[in-house]
Amino acid sequence: MKVLSVASEVFPLIKTGGLADVAGALPIALAPLGISMRTVMPGYPIVRDRIGKAREIAVIPDLLGKPARLLFTEHAGLELYVIDCPDLFDREGGPYVDTAGKDYIDNWQRFAALSRVAADLANGIDPAWAPDIVHGHDWQAGLAPVYLKYSEVGPHTPSVLTIHNIAFQGQFSAQIFPALGLPPAAFAVDGVEYYGDIGYLKGGLRTAWAITTVSPTYAEEILEPQFGMGLEGLIGERVHDLIGIVNGIDDDVWNPEKDRHIAAGYNGVNLARRAENRAALEKRFGLAATDGPIFCVVSRLTWQKGIDLVIDVADEIVAHGGKLAVLGSGDPLLEEGMRAAAARHPGRVAIVFGYDEPLSHLMQAGSDAILIPSRFEPCGLTQLYGLRYGCVPIVGRTGGLSDTIIDANGAALAARVATGIQFSPVDRHGLSQALRRAFRLFEDGPAWASIQKTAMKSDVSWQTSARQYASLYKTLINRVAVP
Ligand code: ADP
Ligand code: GLC
Repeated sequence: MKVLSVASEVFPLIKTGGLADVAGALPIALAPLGISMRTVMPGYPIVRDRIGKAREIAVIPDLLGKPARLLFTEHAGLELYVIDCPDLFDREGGPYVDTAGKDYIDNWQRFAALSRVAADLANGIDPAWAPDIVHGHDWQAGLAPVYLKYSEVGPHTPSVLTIHNIAFQGQFSAQIFPALGLPPAAFAVDGVEYYGDIGYLKGGLRTAWAITTVSPTYAEEILEPQFGMGLEGLIGERVHDLIGIVNGIDDDVWNPEKDRHIAAGYNGVNLARRAENRAALEKRFGLAATDGPIFCVVSRLTWQKGIDLVIDVADEIVAHGGKLAVLGSGDPLLEEGMRAAAARHPGRVAIVFGYDEPLSHLMQAGSDAILIPSRFEPCGLTQLYGLRYGCVPIVGRTGGLSDTIIDANGAALAARVATGIQFSPVDRHGLSQALRRAFRLFEDGPAWASIQKTAMKSDVSWQTSARQYASLYKTLINRVAVP
């Protein structure tokens, strides 16, 4: 079976968040199941640099008005179609925003181009390879199912759209419609029209053959206005085509036994070696070498992630003898709040601003617990890395966080199945209570070690989830076969 993944970021080529990890790991997890997944992605400068020489598959003289080429290469175990279109992708900033952090004004065109090429691949632009299924990720690939539905050539390739975060919807003015190259009929409730504007995610959710999201709980949550962000009605209409499949992690990239980014490798048996990583982390952050637990945060600093709550409890962490190490960047007000907390507590609270992949590994290996007080979390990956590294996740009870962490309540502790701490409601009081429980458990050394060991044994691999994707793909292909 051949599947085309359509993604705006793919680890290890370019990453701003969990989507890249998933897009980079899923093809590798599907291979043993007999699924050949290729990926189409934009040729950002860093991607062009990293892949080096690539084979030209096609020249596209008019990709939404821009000249482009479609390249193919293999990189880090991935088979990649890269869209070389300097007018759209040769930029100095990130994949979505400029150096000042502002969305590129032509994002509508940049990601319509990505989806357009995905549909072209389904329709045979590469004479040597065409997918049986097109699987897009998030709003950036939202138009792929739309282009497929409205393409003149048939039969139409089945499509899957995965929602990684419904908060980002790709909504643009109706004025762009003529430039998208879709027939007039597509500007309708059944197509891309969304309250008089154009919605990329909306169009994708309307037209994809199947919809997935990255955890079962989030699949239920997005049926409610609080989480559906305006799309709950549409999701409700398509609930029979919706399935939640929890993310796994790449356990080669995230393996505490042979992680080259940490100070000392370890496993569940020689957990004591974590102490070396703890010391390395203290040094890196300028934290005092005191006994209490180190809590870490590795995150975009945003409201979604509940970073304001972490700022609220920083004093409390220090008062109880704990320390806080933060790696991240984002909302300037939250950055400011973190900076102030660090200034109040030198040697106890420290922050590294920016994005640092190697350091994110040391955070998991050297901290005792990772704080993830997200207000909503479609899946979340850092709690899964925490499980694997024995860095106890302390999480809000929402989305994928509730599906992947077993709370250390009395019964779970007695049965030795606890893997972390969950709290609800996700507010300052809830987090504060959770921290108090964490301090108590940490002081009881064996109880803490037992949670760590159970956590490290949890299955965070892609195996089960890859099988679920495979069976979804098969169902869709069978639907084609039945007239
Ligand atoms: P989201 O995709 O919503 O940001 P996830 O938990 O799914 O949240 O994924 C975040 C990914 O980005 C993880 O791999 C995490 O380790 C990584 N990450 C987040 N912030 C940073 C940072 N400042 N430096 C390095 N890695 C980071
Ligand atoms: C999104 C979500 C996050 C999820 C990631 C990968 O960025 O915010 O919860 O883990 O996608 O699916």
